[in-house]
This record gives sequence, structure tokens and C-alpha cells, in this order.
Amino acid sequence: MAETPVWLEEAESLYQTQEYVVNVTSFARGNVEIEVLDREVIPNLDGRLKILLVGAGIGQDDILCCLMPYRIAAHLEGKGIDYEMTIVDLNPKVIEDLRTREELFVAGWHFGLTEEDNLLEEWNKYLADTGQTGEIIHERREGLVFLDYIEERVYEPHITPESYLEEGVFCARVPASFTRGLEEGRVTLIHSDIADPGLELPEDYFDFTSCYEVLYQCSQSGQMLAMMAMALSLNERGVAVVSDRKSFSAFERLMQQNGGWCGEVELVQLGLSANQIGERDSLFLLRKPS
Ligand SMILES: C[S@@+](CC[C@H](N)C(=O)[O-])C[C@H]1O[C@@H](n2cnc3c(N)ncnc32)[C@H](O)[C@@H]1O
Repeated sequence: MAETPVWLEEAESLYQTQEYVVNVTSFARGNVEIEVLDREVIPNLDGRLKILLVGAGIGQDDILCCLMPYRIAAHLEGKGIDYEMTIVDLNPKVIEDLRTREELFVAGWHFGLTEEDNLLEEWNKYLADTGQTGEIIHERREGLVFLDYIEERVYEPHITPESYLEEGVFCARVPASFTRGLEEGRVTLIHSDIADPGLELPEDYFDFTSCYEVLYQCSQSGQMLAMMAMALSLNERGVAVVSDRKSFSAFERLMQQNGGWCGEVELVQLGLSANQIGERDSLFLLRKPS
């Protein structure tokens, strides 16, 4: 970026760490990243793959468990790709979960949801990639944590931890490459708002960034600063998957183009170009034009 645009200077002066966050994720999250990695990143890789993951998420239904970083790690492990992963999340519970988790859990009922849902296929691929058979468990065990509110459900009182267990909870180890990465410093966990100007990410570094279902939770200034942080840390051949929901964005200037987070002018000033991915109007592939 040649000169700091005025809107970015304003954003810095307005910036406040946000407090409200949505933590929902699912085992299906990670599919887009895996597809883009295979298509756009891995074929052009030069050395170790460097990934930035912004916002990991921690709850599917009523089970508290990070999933998305493990999906990506398993895929890379299956392909024998040497990677490093930096994960930035505003929620300290997410960071702590990723630091300590040994097994992941997914409620069994998800696997029979719909015909189009390939979750069982994805689960089997996860197991194959990480060289394990997995389990379906019916008893509580360490690491399987249900959200507190499940005990007091008003609308669906029949859904309880016991009902999840009766139906079966799918369980598997976290990818060994992820655990080893934590020990060896190839997986880095950062508790921060991605928009925090004090967050120091390496410049011109990452081959791939994902920021999926995160920006809609940021204020206007937060979105701008987050975009800047991601643009600066992406290397010249790197690509970023960024999503936002127009319906969540309350700020007009950034909504003119390309979803809720950034207009075309702002993107150019950040040195980025955007392409919509697939049918969704809120999912973009960003890159630095050569
Ligand atoms: C809705 S979840 C989505 C998680 C995951 N990307 C997915 O698609 O499953 C949003 C995650 O982003 C984190 N988050 C929200 N705002 C953030 C911010 N400004 N900086 C870093 N992380 C943020 C939340 O703590 C949460 O873990």
C-alpha cells in the first residue's frame, strides 16, 4: 500500500475492541478452504504452506468444540503437506480450546441431516486423512463439553446431553500434525481482535488466509482494519477467502460492492482484487493483482 488512505486513518482513530461475538461453527466449515487450497494454493506452493485463520469458532449445536482448523489440518496431513497455521480469535475460549483439545466431537444427528449433506463422507475423509477409525460414543468423557444453556432449554426440553449421547456423538483425535505443530511452534494461537492495530502479523507472509463468517461481527472501522491486516500479511501469490453477510452489515459506505465489508475503491487501495466464489453473493476470493 503506497499511502495510508484517509478512511483507514479514520478507522484507526475509531477502533475499539468489540465485545459481542458469535461462535457457531460446524464440521462442514472448512470445505471452501479445502477446495481453494487444492485449486489455487497448493499447485503454486513454494516450500512450507503458511496459513492464517481468522476466527475459528467453537460450537456446533450444543457441543463446545473447535472444528474448522482440524478439518484443514487433516486435509493437509492426508496430502503430506508441510504447513504452518496462525489462528487469530477474539474469544479466549476458542484459543484455550485449540491449545488443549485432544479429541473432537460432532453430534451424531448431523450425519443423517439431508441427502445433499456430505457430512458423513467428510467425516470419513477426516478419519482417513488422519489415519484413524474414530468412534461413536454414548458416554460422557473428558473433552466432551455441552453448552451450559442446554441444561435449561425452554423450547426443546427433550434435547439434553443425555439425548445427544443416546443418539451417539462422533469422536476422533485431533490431527497429529496440529498437536505436533503446537509443540514445535508451527501452529500459533493468538488471542486478539483481527482489527486491533496492535496485532503484529508478519508482512507479505501468508499463502492463504481464511476469514469466514467473521467480518459481519465487526464494526465498520473494525472491518476496514481487519481487511488491512489481512492484505498486508498476505504474500504476493497468496489468496484469501473472506465472507460476509450483507444482511448483517449496518454500514452503507462499505456495502456498495462485494458484500458488507469493503468497496471496490477500498480494495484497490489495499492492493487487492476480489472475485465472487460460487453462487453466494457474500463469499469472495481475494488476491494481490500481479
Ligand atoms: C461465527 S464463528 C465462525 C468460525 C469459523 N470461521 C467458521 O466458519 O466455522 C466466528 C468466530 O470469529 C471470532 N471472531 C469474531 N470477531 C472477531 C474478530 N474481530 N477478530 C478475531 N476473531 C473474531 C469468534 O470468536 C468466532 O470464533
